[in-house]
Parts: sequence; structure tokens; C-alpha cells
Amino acid sequence: MRPISNGQERQLTVGIDIGSSKICCAIGSIMPGSDRVKLLGISSMPSMGFRKGSISHRNQLIEQLEKVLFEAETMANTKVNNAILSVTGEHIRCLNTQAAAALNRNRANGVSGDRPIVKTDIDQVLDLAQAISLPPDRDILHTLPQEYSVDTLKEISNPLGLTGRRLEGRVHLVTAAISSMKNLVDCVEELGIKVNGLVFQPLASAIATLKNDEMQLGVTLAEIGSSTTNIVVYHGGAVRHSAVIPIGSASITNDIAVMLQISIEEAENIKIKYASAKASLSSPKLEFDLPSENGDLKRSISEHELSRYVEARMQEIFQLIINEISRADIKESLTYGLVLSGGGAQLSNISALAGDLMGMRVRIGTPTHIEGITDVADLPIHATTMGLLLWPIWADDFAQSTHIGVKTYFQKFKQFIQGFF
Ligand SMILES: Nc1ncnc2c1ncn2[C@@H]1O[C@H](COP(=O)(O)OP(=O)(O)OP(=O)(O)O)[C@@H](O)[C@H]1O
Ligand SMILES: [Mg+2]
Repeated sequence: MRPISNGQERQLTVGIDIGSSKICCAIGSIMPGSDRVKLLGISSMPSMGFRKGSISHRNQLIEQLEKVLFEAETMANTKVNNAILSVTGEHIRCLNTQAAAALNRNRANGVSGDRPIVKTDIDQVLDLAQAISLPPDRDILHTLPQEYSVDTLKEISNPLGLTGRRLEGRVHLVTAAISSMKNLVDCVEELGIKVNGLVFQPLASAIATLKNDEMQLGVTLAEIGSSTTNIVVYHGGAVRHSAVIPIGSASITNDIAVMLQISIEEAENIKIKYASAKASLSSPKLEFDLPSENGDLKRSISEHELSRYVEARMQEIFQLIINEISRADIKESLTYGLVLSGGGAQLSNISALAGDLMGMRVRIGTPTHIEGITDVADLPIHATTMGLLLWPIWADDFAQSTHIGVKTYFQKFKQFIQGFF
């Protein structure tokens, strides 16, 4: 297969992030000899027909997808044939599991069978680790290796070339509902775009924003979207836990709309302009007028008052994040604390509030490894889309779902990219 090519010897990488509030498509070209991507085009439009990771109106979604694609293609001045999609939703589950295989089964009589471990041994162990019993409507979305053991040697990140008799592998599995994945893929393929792979949202955002040191010494990435908050916990260079919390920044907008009795659109504008995640950092003296209908009395409210509602909701979201981190069951503390991405992370003073509540380091995650149009690429709201562009270069994923027909396509694409360096 030839990966996406526009005939100009450029290797394109395309990511489509379908969220509840926006659909974003980015087109990049892989920079030869480096692990970076040059951003050629990006388009973002309000999402329609999609909520909490599920399609609510297929035709509206396809129509909007077409517009986003067209705009990104025009900006990049190229045609797109393939893309990688993000996926989220309450149907996603994760678990840690392990498997082992004997390495010297074929030894000749009496001769010691120890031989160096080859790639097929590792693949065999990862394959075995995937042999879990799943309901028929679910499939494995990602198989992310954590570490290996060879006989008594533990915590090996890559066992290639080592000798031993028993290879054991630990993995983090992410599973998802087949119908959710298939319907999403169908919508994109209806537009003539072949789907190269599906990526669980926070994994893409993590690839775009986290450094190797952070993944090694321990960090949580929380991608705060509009209707979901997606979590991934890294330690020892591997994913230890991942989860979807079905609440995001749109809840703040709803709270503001209900409290102040204004429309969602007005509440959204007020949130972006005046809200602070920490009420104590906003002034009770700074007041702004609320939108009013003709004839209504003029109303105003202080930024401090508004931020009290916002802080209450953000505290709830951070409490849910803390609960998820504790499920990762990591004994050591996460040295690098918390990294926030997604549109919700753009709320002012959010890291100050998170730092107080969680008692750990907090930073806002901005995408790295991307060149060109960086003022757009660097926003936390684009972390997932940028991660999708980088996925073919950086990802360490053994499995892509077989049920939706993307496996061989994705793997060949990945092999090609690897051969590219
Ligand atoms: N400057 C800002 N201040 C506060 N909130 C913001 C800001 N910019 C964006 N947001 C919020 O971020 C949310 C959108 O984030 P994002 O685009 O990451 O969500 P999404 O990917 O569409 O949703 P999901 O992933 O949950 O399906 C909106 O609720 C929006 O109000
Ligand atoms: Mg999102």
C-alpha cells in the first residue's frame, strides 16, 4: 500500500477529532529523519450530531465533517484519502493484564535451548495477553505494552535480543463498543476517506503534550473536553490506567445558564470572557452586564460571584479525576503530577485550582513536536488532533480493532512510517 501521498513525495498524516462541541481536522507532513510533523492545514468547526462520544444525528455529522475536511484540504492545498480518528465515550473500558510464553519449546534433544528473543516471541506474548473473554459487542481498541520479564529479570521495557526460557508481558488493554467504533468509521468512510486507525482521545493528547520523563516518573493527563473528561495515568514509561468521566466543561456553561437565566450561547461567551476557576483570584469589584431582553431590567454580576459557580463545578470534576488516579493503584507518587489539556483546560486559573485541590504539580499541556502554524497547534484545545497527527510516529500500540477492518491497513501504514526513518 502507498500511504497517503499527494504525488509530491510528502508523507501526509491526517487526524480528525470529533468532539461534542467541535470537529477538528488537521493535515500534516512527516518531516523526514525526525519525529516531528509539519502542520499544513487545520480546520475546526462547531460539532453537530455528536454528543458524549456517540452519534446523535448521522447526516448532520457527515455534513459537518465534509465542511471541516474541505476547509483543511483547501488550507493544506492537498487531497486527503486516509485519516486517523479519535474516539471517546462511556463505552470505553480499560484493564491491565498479562501473559507468558515458553521460549525454548523447539530445542533439539539435550541441547540448551536458550536463544535470543525475537520480535515474533514478543508478538506471541502480546497476542496471548489479548486473549481475554469479551462480550460479543466489544473489541480491543488498544494493547499497550507496559513491561516484560525474562525469567527472573523484571521491568524490561524491550526484551529483544535477551535470552531466557520464559517471556512474560504486561499490557494495558483499552476496549470499546464495536457499534460505536463502526458507526464512527462508516461516517468518515462515507466521505471517501479510508480510516487508518482509531485512537482513544487521551492517548493522542498524551503523545502530543507529555515528555518522556513525565511518562517515566509518573504523570496524569486529563483532557477536559466539553462533555467528557478523559484520563490517562503513566508511570514507568507506560499507561497504567485510563478512563472516561462523562462530564466536562459544558456543565459549567449549563450551570451559568441556569443560575443567571440566560441562553447557553450567552453563558458560553460569559464563561470564556469572565470566568475564573478560582473565585478568590477574581475581583468582587469587577462587574459586567448580563444580556437582557428589551424591557427587562438591566442586571449585572461580579466576576467573583460568577466564578463561585464555576469553581464549584470544577471542584467536582477534579474530585472525579482524583478518584480515577487512585484507581491506577500506583504506590509511588506521580512526580510530575497533572497535565491538563482540552478546551476546558483553557479556563483561566484552572491550574491554580487544580494545584490547591490535588496537592501536586499541575501544568497546562500544549502540543509539542509540531512545526508551522504553531500559534494554532499549540493550544490545549488542539492536543488530541495534534496527537493524532503524531500517532503513526510515536504510538506503541500492538492492536487495532480487527472488527472494523482497520488493522492491516494501520499496521502497514505504521511499518511504512517506521521504514521512513
Ligand atoms: N478560554 C476558555 N475558557 C473556558 N472554557 C473554554 C475556553 N475555550 C474553550 N472552552 C471550553 O472547552 C470546551 C470544548 O473543549 P473541546 O473542544 O476539547 O471539547 P470536545 O472535544 O468538543 O468535547 P468532548 O471531547 O467532550 O466530546 C467547551 O465546553 C468550551 O466552552
Ligand atoms: Mg475532545
